[in-house]
Amino acid sequence: MPQRPALTVVPRHVAIIMDGNGRWAKKRGLPRVAGHREGAKTVRMVVRTSGEVGVEVLTLYAFSTENWRRPEEEVSYLMNLLISYLKKELDELCRENVRLRAIGDISNLPREVQQALLEAIQKTDNNTGMILNLALNYGGKDELVRAIKRIYRDVESGKFPIDSVTPDLIDTYLDTASQPDPDLIIRTSGEMRLSNFLLWQGAYSELWFTDTLWPDFTEEEYLKALVDYGKRGRRFGNV
Ligand code: FPP
Repeated sequence: MPQRPALTVVPRHVAIIMDGNGRWAKKRGLPRVAGHREGAKTVRMVVRTSGEVGVEVLTLYAFSTENWRRPEEEVSYLMNLLISYLKKELDELCRENVRLRAIGDISNLPREVQQALLEAIQKTDNNTGMILNLALNYGGKDELVRAIKRIYRDVESGKFPIDSVTPDLIDTYLDTASQPDPDLIIRTSGEMRLSNFLLWQGAYSELWFTDTLWPDFTEEEYLKALVDYGKRGRRFGNV
């Protein structure tokens, strides 16, 4: 295990766009899904390390609302990988005191994925450590549409007047309600965009990019991102 640097500041919420699985596999002449399988190992590392260094919330972009456009075999592989991750890791998540949550429109995931997710969410619900949000069938725009519809219905039914709608109220209608906004968003594989991830919550997030492909992302590099985060001056629009 690498010597861990002392972290003077630990981000409360880290969110990760785990990109580059397909390219990792292609470079090795393997099918794309081999990259996802290898990427699941990196997931285990970031969950463990985040909990150990004191991150309160870790959000992983595992499947976007746009990912349904991928070939059917790849989508179904990803869904099965998720089920097997949830089943295999449940004991480990409990040992690590992790509370599992899902963000995204879960109701449109295959029934077996929903079942495995609900079981893991329930079994980890009494844990008191880090929250692990798996973003599944998640899109920032879709999340906002779902929130706006619910707000509209609550205004219409007289729960509160339209003038009560503020940024703080909108926060409470998002999938991440009651969680801190991401302090740090990491994206691997050299792409530098948000791809519909945490659009509202990421308004003031620090962004950190690396060319490393997700399956090659190591604990050492993750800790480097956390150290770099500690050096950023966050002003939130102030001077
Ligand atoms: C992006 O790489 C990755 C995904 C769309 C899926 C992420 C899934 C995992 C890391 C594995 C399983 C997750 C869990 C939570 C167990 P890409 O396929 O777009 O790569 P490319 O850009 O190189 O094609």
